[in-house]
Amino acid sequence: MLQEKLTSRTARIGVVGLGYVGLPLALLCNRRGFTVTGIESNEEKIEQLRRGESYVVNVADSDVRAFVKEPGNILSPDLGECTTCDVVLVCTPTPLTESGQPDYSHLFDVLNAMSKQMREHQLIVIESTVGPQMTEREILPRLHETGPPVGEGFFLAYSPERVDAGNAQLSLEHVPKLVSGVTDECCRLARLFYSSLEISTVETSAPIIAEMAKLLENTYRDVNIALINEMARICGANGVDIWEVISAASTKGHGFQPFYPGPGVGGHCIPVDSVYYSTWARSTGHVAGLAEMSRQINASMPEYAADRIEQALHRRWIDPRRAKILFMGVTYKKDVNDVRQSPAVSVIKILKRRGIRVDFHDPFVHRLSFAGQTFERVPVDGAASSDYDCVVLAVDHSCYELREIVRASTLLLDFTGRLAGQAGRDDVFDLFDVSSS
Ligand SMILES: NC(=O)c1ccc[n+]([C@@H]2O[C@H](COP(=O)([O-])OP(=O)(O)OC[C@H]3O[C@@H](n4cnc5c(N)ncnc54)[C@H](O)[C@@H]3O)[C@@H](O)[C@H]2O)c1
Repeated sequence: MLQEKLTSRTARIGVVGLGYVGLPLALLCNRRGFTVTGIESNEEKIEQLRRGESYVVNVADSDVRAFVKEPGNILSPDLGECTTCDVVLVCTPTPLTESGQPDYSHLFDVLNAMSKQMREHQLIVIESTVGPQMTEREILPRLHETGPPVGEGFFLAYSPERVDAGNAQLSLEHVPKLVSGVTDECCRLARLFYSSLEISTVETSAPIIAEMAKLLENTYRDVNIALINEMARICGANGVDIWEVISAASTKGHGFQPFYPGPGVGGHCIPVDSVYYSTWARSTGHVAGLAEMSRQINASMPEYAADRIEQALHRRWIDPRRAKILFMGVTYKKDVNDVRQSPAVSVIKILKRRGIRVDFHDPFVHRLSFAGQTFERVPVDGAASSDYDCVVLAVDHSCYELREIVRASTLLLDFTGRLAGQAGRDDVFDLFDVSSS
């Protein structure tokens, strides 16, 4: 039975979707003694893994090589492989559609394929972020068309991933996992599984609590970042240094958590999850006004940032359409290789649409593709940045030598707040300090 297979580590674990969430999870399962089937629809990724190359920051090539070498582990694009697994962890993307609605197509493709060949006593755990009530109302019926009931014939649990991408101190084993089951037995087995990975678990009484909690965690971030972005713009317009305001407020020591302003909010989670929440609210006849307004504020930031770059050039009598701009950093946050919903990329797109020449450098990104074109990164050392009319420090990757960048730039616009201490210089400008440009 499944319980024995979990405690003896003889269960085969299937991980569907080997991306930022699924790949580290698959490797962890293997390190804890399970044999693993990794199922990934992108065959290029499978080839990379077979060559022992990692495409996820903080996952070392040597760990991938160890996984690939281990007898019994399988990498495949075929969802049919799920039949051979005792536990299936679904880690496929849940992004937004072109029209900004929750996109469950990847998840439903997996569920539809699995439902045709479910095996008795399989435990299915959904790790992808989903809207409230999805596990019980949409996922369960897709898996269970006929056959023995859930909780006896098969087990369904929801356990959202909560890793902090790019943060080596907060990897999988360090963040407690919310675990919920469609029945008590589903939850018990899912907790047993995560305990066998040495991950601590927190049980919720029903899947909707875990679904909602995941959306709360990220909507909370979106709302607070919107508050500080709005305040930063108002402070900037009035000559008040927002960075000093935040650091002064942070001395309170209780009842206040600092959030920092910037050119927008990116990644696969924060800008997406609050939409999953507000869409669900509307489907129940309610408007999540604060979440919706926050999304609008944060989504307007790239346009604001592009305007600020143009203003900074105009004040130096440089025509933006004749200027050369260099972006340092294009990922959605520091020290990751992920450009999904990256605000820096949004600003670059806006500037290019306005006919302004922009180059970029990023230690983690070799090329950007959009609007049918591909842009290669430029090699940057400190000296090269002096060739540009304006350098934008968009992401403060740890490897950037800020002093060198400041020294070599004739005009530097800082999106990150890292150069806030340079106030008063006439060649370094803060994104929000409108009065100084
Ligand atoms: N990235 C994060 O830091 C993070 C954190 C917490 C939660 N999440 C959530 O976890 C889920 C996965 O996110 P991610 O960042 O790992 O996404 P990702 O895009 O990096 O990885 C998902 C992988 O699934 C693959 N895939 C898509 N459809 C498939 C199919 N039918 N069969 C097999 N493979 C398929 C994709 O090719 C991709 O490699 C999302 O719901 C996301 O919201 C992500």
